[in-house]
Amino acid sequence: MKILFVCLGNICRSPTAEGVFREMAQDVETDSAGTSDWHVGEPPYGAMQAAAKARGYDLSDLRARQFSAEDFDRFDLIIGMDASNIANMERLRPAGNATPVRLFTDYAPERGMSEVPDPYYTRDFDAALDLVEACARGLMATL
Ligand code: 4NP
Repeated sequence: MKILFVCLGNICRSPTAEGVFREMAQDVETDSAGTSDWHVGEPPYGAMQAAAKARGYDLSDLRARQFSAEDFDRFDLIIGMDASNIANMERLRPAGNATPVRLFTDYAPERGMSEVPDPYYTRDFDAALDLVEACARGLMATL
């Protein structure tokens, strides 16, 4: 099983999702990517890494990369952090490809959220972690 987490920059939400989920599901191959190329090659955002580290998640080995059409063929499940991530990915879907693309928040309906708010803008890195942990637990329960 291979799961890809996707956000816009691949420096806040999706590397956090990857870092949290890889602790929970060690037999699942996880990766993350951004729909933009803005931060390619960079480690996760410093404040995001610090908030994650405080909960025991070390994100320091991760490096941003851009999502590409080939990812549809490389992964069994692709998970976006918001609706724009999903729209941006769907534009690149190869003809005939049927890989499921889901919204991460759909795995934690009890939270009543339709997206993972971007802490790069909200500055609330702990709230992002709370939601990511809940969604990751929900996803884990579906596997
Ligand atoms: P992410 O957050 O999509 O969760 O990685 C962002 C990080 C950086 C920017 C946008 C979103 N940016 O505009 O540089």
